[in-house]
Amino acid sequence: MIRTLAFLLAACAAFAQPKDANYDEAKVPRYTLPDALLLANGTPVRDAKTWTAKRRPEILALFEKNMQGHSPAPFKTASELSSIDTKALGGRAIRKEITVLFNGKKDGPKMSLLVYLPANAKGKVPVFLGPNFQGNHTIDNDPGIHLGDVWVKNTRQPAGEKTRGAQASRWQLDMVLKAGFGLATFYYYDPEPDFKDGKMLGVRSMAPDETWGAIGAWSYALSRAMDYLETDKAVNAKRVALVGHSRLGKAALWAGALDTRFAIIISNDSGEGGAAISRRNFGEQVHNLNASFPHWFTAAYKQWDHREDAMPMDAHMLMALTAPRPLYVASAQEDLWADPKGEFLAAVEATKVYHLFKKKGIETSEFPAPNQPVGDTVRYHVRTGKHDVTAYDWEQYIAFAQRHFKN
Ligand code: GCU
Repeated sequence: MIRTLAFLLAACAAFAQPKDANYDEAKVPRYTLPDALLLANGTPVRDAKTWTAKRRPEILALFEKNMQGHSPAPFKTASELSSIDTKALGGRAIRKEITVLFNGKKDGPKMSLLVYLPANAKGKVPVFLGPNFQGNHTIDNDPGIHLGDVWVKNTRQPAGEKTRGAQASRWQLDMVLKAGFGLATFYYYDPEPDFKDGKMLGVRSMAPDETWGAIGAWSYALSRAMDYLETDKAVNAKRVALVGHSRLGKAALWAGALDTRFAIIISNDSGEGGAAISRRNFGEQVHNLNASFPHWFTAAYKQWDHREDAMPMDAHMLMALTAPRPLYVASAQEDLWADPKGEFLAAVEATKVYHLFKKKGIETSEFPAPNQPVGDTVRYHVRTGKHDVTAYDWEQYIAFAQRHFKN
């Protein structure tokens, strides 16, 4: 039932792209971005120490107040191993399912965290962590599971044979494992089903008086997944790269802002409310987000409908909250709704904050050609093709993570 709803909502999201959206660069009005490097009292921020102690908390508070709402301190969770297959994927992986009980209670909200680790790993492995759109059974095609030496038909949650492996191209598991990384993922409907009245059906029911939205709920779940990864002896929890596509890219940016344990943040086609500059009137706008997905952000975000220019923050400041950790921003050429150029320009602007830490980001303001990544600790590419996560994207993310984890 919820799955059918998810499908319908995804279809509606496509319809939610209004005909009058602007896709003409010449019609983008001029705008002025709020200065990430100016304290609220007008003093310029000139060093990393002032950034971390003063400006970063100010910006975080701006996002909480005006967009994301406030998330509660973590409840005491419990996690239980619900299955382990040490010979998964033809022996290439160890695959585990962990049930995370968000308030420690079996009858409370919970999620099933699916973890793959390379079978031949020597020592603790770095991990990519990201929520998935259609269920844990869509990540790989493996039809069965080994329980000890016994092979049984796959029971991974939820059993949906028709869609088993349906999202495999978005996760590139073989590539990830071959590169020596693990992969951890959960179905994003577990922490909160994605519809207007989903609030009381997931983690937000634990703290109904908080102002957080669904993006906050999914971010919260990412941090609880991280809590688990910190306890897994096979995982190097200092090397967890957060990856999110589209609305889940918005969640990855926010989770990375709130929780500095994430070592790398990757935003894939996150668009409006994520990596794209809201002030640029191109593709999706704040009022579109609020009309189609009123549950994603805090109620106060609605005051910025048609008033992006008055917002005290913008996407470059959300990205700057990742600094000095490595940040990868990716767009797709045909994904105009997400405003690729707006995502690029925000990453260029966020680079100024990385400079305080003596890190290089995107040192050009020239929009790159397709499939030509640019930048260092902040990196960007626009891939040919549509709104998606592809093998090309993963090749870049793996190389990026390998390079930064070596340093
Ligand atoms: C819609 C929405 C976007 C979002 C996307 C997705 O298109 O308008 O903001 O990123 O759905 O999550 O797929």
